[in-house]
Amino acid sequence: MAINFDSNNFILGVIGAGAMGRGIAQVAIAGGLKVKLFDVNAAQSKEAVKFIGKMLDRAAEKGQMTECDAKTANARIQIIDTTQDLADCQIVIEAATENPEIKTKIYQDLEETLAEDAIIATNTSSLSITTLASPLEHPERFVGMHFFNPVPLMRLVEVIDGVRSDTSAGDTLMELGRRMTREPVRCQDAPGFLVNQVGRGYNIEAAHIYSEQVADIPDLDRILSEAAGFRMGPFTLLDLTGLDVTHPATELIYKQFYGEARFRPNVMLRARMEAGMLGRKSGRGFYDYSSGKQAFPKEATYPSYDGRPVWISKSETEGHEALTETISKIGGHLETGDFPSSDALILVTPVGEDVTTTTVAQGLDPKRTLGVDTLVGLATRRTIMTNPATDLSYRETAHGLLTADGVKATVIRDCPGFVCQRIISTICNIGCQIAQFGTAEPEDIDKAVVLGLNYPNGPLTFGDKLGPKNILKILEACQRIYGDPRYRPSPWLRRRAELGLSLFDKEI
Ligand SMILES: NC(=O)c1ccc[n+]([C@@H]2O[C@H](COP(=O)([O-])OP(=O)(O)OC[C@H]3O[C@@H](n4cnc5c(N)ncnc54)[C@H](O)[C@@H]3O)[C@@H](O)[C@H]2O)c1
Repeated sequence: MAINFDSNNFILGVIGAGAMGRGIAQVAIAGGLKVKLFDVNAAQSKEAVKFIGKMLDRAAEKGQMTECDAKTANARIQIIDTTQDLADCQIVIEAATENPEIKTKIYQDLEETLAEDAIIATNTSSLSITTLASPLEHPERFVGMHFFNPVPLMRLVEVIDGVRSDTSAGDTLMELGRRMTREPVRCQDAPGFLVNQVGRGYNIEAAHIYSEQVADIPDLDRILSEAAGFRMGPFTLLDLTGLDVTHPATELIYKQFYGEARFRPNVMLRARMEAGMLGRKSGRGFYDYSSGKQAFPKEATYPSYDGRPVWISKSETEGHEALTETISKIGGHLETGDFPSSDALILVTPVGEDVTTTTVAQGLDPKRTLGVDTLVGLATRRTIMTNPATDLSYRETAHGLLTADGVKATVIRDCPGFVCQRIISTICNIGCQIAQFGTAEPEDIDKAVVLGLNYPNGPLTFGDKLGPKNILKILEACQRIYGDPRYRPSPWLRRRAELGLSLFDKEI
């Protein structure tokens, strides 16, 4: 069906006037479209229109639109009392409560009311588009249109084709998304669609690392925000979203993927959710919020460098070069021989492996050996890793040395892939598997993640920056050390890494 969005006759229907429905209606009218808004709870619709009016006034005050535009936009929204009033809508977006029975009943009503070629879109965040479409008489007109909260601030919208959706219906919704001043990306129906699937890689991997006592919560947050450039550390983010929202979503995606190890939820997160430590909303999560603000502890002061000689393993050429340059600039007492002298601090620069494996493989003295992540954060926040035999005085030497130039550094316990290598590789691997399944085009995967999750890079760009060969090496090491299929590399990644290609390269 060809829809003329410029026609005065075009009216968008929005069902549900809650957090999402009102945001969808707001961006639609701000984009110049007429909207009919329906909610079973009439008071909710009234409240939504009032709220939208306030938002538009505020936008006018901030100079984001003229006062006149704000008023005319507001006049384009109409509250309706029954779904029958949607009969003249060519597209209806359903943003009602996340309950399949409620949604199915709404679609039945819509099929009786709307013209046969009208499009029905759902804003569901967790239900399968294909499953929701299956009872419909015309499943080909049913498509997912997944906005993000808060809609006016989040420009991304995922347009999701179910198995029986007509391509032209999705094409029309892509255009509608642009008309609503959003950035639409197209994907095929899959658990978690794009953004919620990739989002599992960050928080959950961080939770697995924490569960292994690699580092405490604030240190993990510091490393991921300062070394890897994430806007928020994973635990600060979990507290903001609330475990009652994040954890059930993870469990559902894991179940929908038939127990795919890459999405395996974390037991500690479930326990904390059941204990009511949900995050900001309950006053206590990974941090305390009883004062109204996050109580983020101050970092302990760093030890001073004691001048001990330092020897860097040459087994990773790039890591050796990067760390040699850093320590030379710091003014550390560098040894250049093939073996460390008897009391030298020994530094290794593993890619993927833990310090124990590296130390044993190279026949080094474990008491004096620590690892440094030279792939991520060497200039911003360094990650230093001990092994179970590391002597405390060598830990202090390494910490003092690697902070002597004013760059911050965190010492963690032994862990394959440190923190950033492992988490970035996990995110990249999920992105690669989405590309391998053809759920979305590589460019759209990255665009969705950057816009929807605010990550500093999309999964494939992360991979290209660190190097696909490195990502493959990190995942293989994690898989070998843990014996866990969670880390098995996607064939999309393996093939491109082995052929020396970019992760964006498509096969003919
Ligand atoms: N909140 C989010 O962060 C978010 C993000 C993306 C997608 N979503 C999805 O958007 C949808 C709505 O979520 P929300 O957060 O706005 O929920 P909400 O609880 O804020 O609003 C839901 C609204 O639906 C109304 N409703 C219930 N049954 C209805 C019916 N039969 N007909 C018409 N209206 C009905 C309710 O009265 C309520 O106003 C859900 O499918 C949710 O999964 C939510």
